[in-house]
Amino acid sequence: MLQHGKIPYEPGLGELIKRSSDRLSFSTDYSSLSGAEFAFITVSTPTVNGKIYLGHVLDAASSLSSVVGKGTKVVIKSTVVPGTNAKVREALGGRVPVLSNPEFLREGSAVKDTRSPERVVIGSLEKDAEAASALEELWSFTRAPVLRVRPEEAEMIKYAANSFLALKVSFINEVANLCESLEDCDVEVVAKAIGMDSRISPHFLRAGIGWGGSCFPKDTAAFAAFAREKGETLRTVEAAMAVNEERAGRAVEALKEMMRGLKGRRVCVLGVAFKPDTDDTRESAALKVIRLLKEEGAEVRAYDPKAKTDLVPMAERDECVRWAEGVVIATEWNEFKGMEEELKDKYVMDGRRVLDPRRMPLGKYRAVGLSAKRGDSPAGRRAKRQALTQ
Ligand code: UGA
Repeated sequence: MLQHGKIPYEPGLGELIKRSSDRLSFSTDYSSLSGAEFAFITVSTPTVNGKIYLGHVLDAASSLSSVVGKGTKVVIKSTVVPGTNAKVREALGGRVPVLSNPEFLREGSAVKDTRSPERVVIGSLEKDAEAASALEELWSFTRAPVLRVRPEEAEMIKYAANSFLALKVSFINEVANLCESLEDCDVEVVAKAIGMDSRISPHFLRAGIGWGGSCFPKDTAAFAAFAREKGETLRTVEAAMAVNEERAGRAVEALKEMMRGLKGRRVCVLGVAFKPDTDDTRESAALKVIRLLKEEGAEVRAYDPKAKTDLVPMAERDECVRWAEGVVIATEWNEFKGMEEELKDKYVMDGRRVLDPRRMPLGKYRAVGLSAKRGDSPAGRRAKRQALTQ
């Protein structure tokens, strides 16, 4: 695809590739790497049977071993469990330096994050200190602080970072559940206030229908499985995963309650990407919502500015909304902001908090982390019912 100028959707990437075309080439032939100063391994590390699959990384390493010469430094960018650097060194026959250089960029802001990362982590053995300095020099254009660590530490840092971010989101999602069960409480207000504490920070405190994508679900699972293999249990990470599992179901449940059943009802899902500014639907919470709506017997259509799914028919936004009785906002695309007027006659589950609740009618609008009626939320009613029967 890249050879033919087909560039995946990512803000700024197309222009960057075009601008650099005179010194950028793409090939599937390993021999094109002979003589390279750096060879970055950036292949995927999927989860197979709940554990990380390192086959692609190790294949890449053994394919490299026949083409790289003394001057090449092999750099592991793929997200890998601690101990992988040693395996890659072995696959390369110990002939060249192998550095661990985890990546922290986000989809949707990949170019910006690459240009200005908050830190650069380089893991290397003592004997490869010179190679690590050369890699540090390569990244010096970013002006980011560089941390020189051991390979296992670099590998651990990546998993700990992603798991902590996932944990933060699951935490605020649990607080959101509790807010929904109260009379007059909004998780957005709570998140804003706690985020002002610099020890907590305002980032990754947006409650929603759960985290997805190609990283958090895979990395939390791999990290937890890796810990168990080592005889340790990452209880907080496992709890974060369990909380995330329930997000889509809660959103569908809320819509079902409002609409008094979903069988045969027309529902439009706004957003199918796992987050805005990407066309990626891997592990997208929106797709989980779609599957559950279908299981409930609803007739479902979806709209997304960039992403696609073949689970349900895709429609134009306004047409999808007009057709529907119920709407679930599943991705916080900017263009969904300000749709209050258009949506005010529909049953709406705002799974990403993009609408202004004050402009939405009571009884037909639910939002993650917001008391509905306030007090009229499913959990609130359940608690009231329980209290009455006790
Ligand atoms: C994530 C990390 O943020 C990057 O630092 C890391 O490099 C990358 O994984 C990776 O390992 O490659 P990414 O998956 O692109 O990046 O997306 P995020 O912006 O982290 O969002 C992940 C999910 O969490 C999305 O579904 C998003 O909707 C959700 N999220 C995020 C929330 O629900 N609330 C928030 O406050 C933040």
